[in-house]
Amino acid sequence: MADFIHWFDIIDSTNTRLLADKEGLPDRTVYAALFQTAGRGQKGNRWESRSGENLTFSILLKPTDIPAREQFILSQVMALGLLDFLRSEGVAASIKWPNDIYVGDKKICGTLIEPTLSGGHLSSAVAGIGLNLNQRVFDPSIPNPTSLSLVTGRSYDVKEMLPRVLEPIFRRCEKLSSPYARNGYDAEYMEHLYRRGEWHAFEELPASEVPTEHRSGRRVEARILGIDPEARLLLEHRNGTIHTYGFKEIKYII
Ligand code: BTN
Repeated sequence: MADFIHWFDIIDSTNTRLLADKEGLPDRTVYAALFQTAGRGQKGNRWESRSGENLTFSILLKPTDIPAREQFILSQVMALGLLDFLRSEGVAASIKWPNDIYVGDKKICGTLIEPTLSGGHLSSAVAGIGLNLNQRVFDPSIPNPTSLSLVTGRSYDVKEMLPRVLEPIFRRCEKLSSPYARNGYDAEYMEHLYRRGEWHAFEELPASEVPTEHRSGRRVEARILGIDPEARLLLEHRNGTIHTYGFKEIKYII
């Protein structure tokens, strides 16, 4: 496995670089960096991580035979593999839909998956992971951050930890080529969903493609019922009505 790990002292973004290089590289190539000058997060945000303190890496996946409409399986594989790793370190974590990893009410890890589609299928994907290991102080603008060190009180050798994180992720990737095995991930993902079945506050966000003013910034009390076949979040509101939301249409109030 180590043959496929390329470490960079400094890079713009492991996702950006791996996307640019992907054609000539094999499945499961990993780019990892001690420091990213332009780390990218979800929704166009930056991903900030102190130099040498955390894991910031990207995995190239070239699965065969995954239809584009089933691409959420990649989020499931990454999230469940990361939970396996954290469990092996004695830490119980949950998945904040779609693919943040939380310990209690704090985010320990974020994932940015960038797929390439061709002819209705997934031809490749770059899965970028930012896993906070040793960082203890965060910029106040980052919402709810934590790190493995803050949770366990220990400190970690960043380069030594990478193969240990990759191992459970790759073990789950083996099953990506079997449609039967892929089905099994739905129930497991649901079981570990952050705040599933509990009443909490959410904020409905205005989505440009859904031009309904009443949804803009409205605070609702709701509970998570699950995920629909399009990987949208299913919420039951207090009045008993059921609503579905895409990633940019709902915000958890934490
Ligand atoms: C999120 O917003 O939660 C997703 C964060 C993903 C960050 C990782 S760090 C390694 C890889 N390279 C990037 O530029 N982003 C991802």
